[in-house]
Amino acid sequence: MSGAGRRAAAPRGTRDVLPAEGRVRERIVDAAREAFARHAYAPIVTPTFEETEVFVRGVGTSTDVVRKEMYTFEDRSGRSLTLRPEGTAPVVRAFVEHGMHKLPLPVKLWYLAPMFRYEAPQSGRYREHWQFGAEAIGSADPLLDVEVIALLGGILAGLGVPGLRLRLGSMGDAETRAAHRPLLLEHLEARAAGLDEDARARMRDNPLRLFDSKDPAVREAMAGAPTLLEHLSPRAREHHERVREGLERLGIGYEEDASLVRGFDYYTMTVFEFTSDRLGAQSAVGGGGRYDGLVEALGGPPAPGVGFGAGIERITLALEGEPAPGGGLDCYVAVPDDALRPGLLPLVERLRAAGLRCETDLRGRSLKAMMRHAASLGARRAVIIGPREEEQGVATVRDMRTGEQEAVPLGELVDRLAGA
Ligand code: HAM
Repeated sequence: MSGAGRRAAAPRGTRDVLPAEGRVRERIVDAAREAFARHAYAPIVTPTFEETEVFVRGVGTSTDVVRKEMYTFEDRSGRSLTLRPEGTAPVVRAFVEHGMHKLPLPVKLWYLAPMFRYEAPQSGRYREHWQFGAEAIGSADPLLDVEVIALLGGILAGLGVPGLRLRLGSMGDAETRAAHRPLLLEHLEARAAGLDEDARARMRDNPLRLFDSKDPAVREAMAGAPTLLEHLSPRAREHHERVREGLERLGIGYEEDASLVRGFDYYTMTVFEFTSDRLGAQSAVGGGGRYDGLVEALGGPPAPGVGFGAGIERITLALEGEPAPGGGLDCYVAVPDDALRPGLLPLVERLRAAGLRCETDLRGRSLKAMMRHAASLGARRAVIIGPREEEQGVATVRDMRTGEQEAVPLGELVDRLAGA
């Protein structure tokens, strides 16, 4: 075997989640799951890879994601497959494939899944990242956009993500885009001299994509460019006003941002992004929008939809240094006597069944070492049962913070600990 002995490492742009961070992620996912249940979303799981066509048709050929970031490969029979770079196109593919338009609409689906994008790695930007996301398909009501935005905002605020801001934009409808495109092209053509071939190709394909370019020459050319928000059709303007009004009625603050176009071609009407000021260049913790033509683009009947995706690593980064509630253990059971050990697991399992987070020694430590172990795990209480306790039919319950001890009859132990 070549390279034997070299220390193996995770691929560039990917990362391991170690236990301290894993606990924060659990809290994030639990908060999302509970909020989804309260908003009547059902879980959906789609395959990690799709036929490449799903993303080409769904996400669009002018996007960075399709042009340069997909992990695409041929399987052994020569089919082109792609690791999921984003969650919306696969969920809509499943909606179409399973005829979900026949269900009561809107169909509300949520997911938790890894996404794969060949991007330049940096803090908060990885080649594999995890998202929780939601898609509500089958209604064009602007109140659904408001509910989706409020759902994500509520999860982020409930987690205590600091420095949250909501940016709101609109991509308009087909009429808006048809009227806007020549205006944007006219603006760009007067400035095309400074643009490289890549930017010009995008200009021909979908000039809107130049709004999210980081290239200084493109940014200069885009300064003062006509925006979609300024040229909304009457229908799109009405939709946008209803969304703004709905957010205001819920007391959700937002900033209107005409430069927010987001990186996928499927968006129509509402687009939004939540950022945290604790993050650097990659400040978006979650974003989404409406996609009224996507179901049809993937071969389904007309069915408008709206959704979001939120980046779990970004939320974790934003929460760094924030006080974390809970954590630790409710109790640590110490049975420092070989003759009593057969009763150890039955007791620990009874405590766990009563809902307590409970750990014990499974290495044969001394009592002193057990107490160090309990402290290192953040246990609130230690339950000690040695020969003396056994004889008296009690357990010594020690408060690990104050050192106070109390003898509790064994018959009452589970109820006393579970009640406290
Ligand atoms: P997105 O904005 O590309 O949207 O991704 C959603 C979130 O995933 C971002 O706001 C960010 O927090 C996180 N994220 C994206 N790329 C990376 C990366 N390379 N490393 C770490 N985190 C990342 C979507 O994917 C759409 N499917 C959202 C949507 C659902 N729109 C409608 N429905």
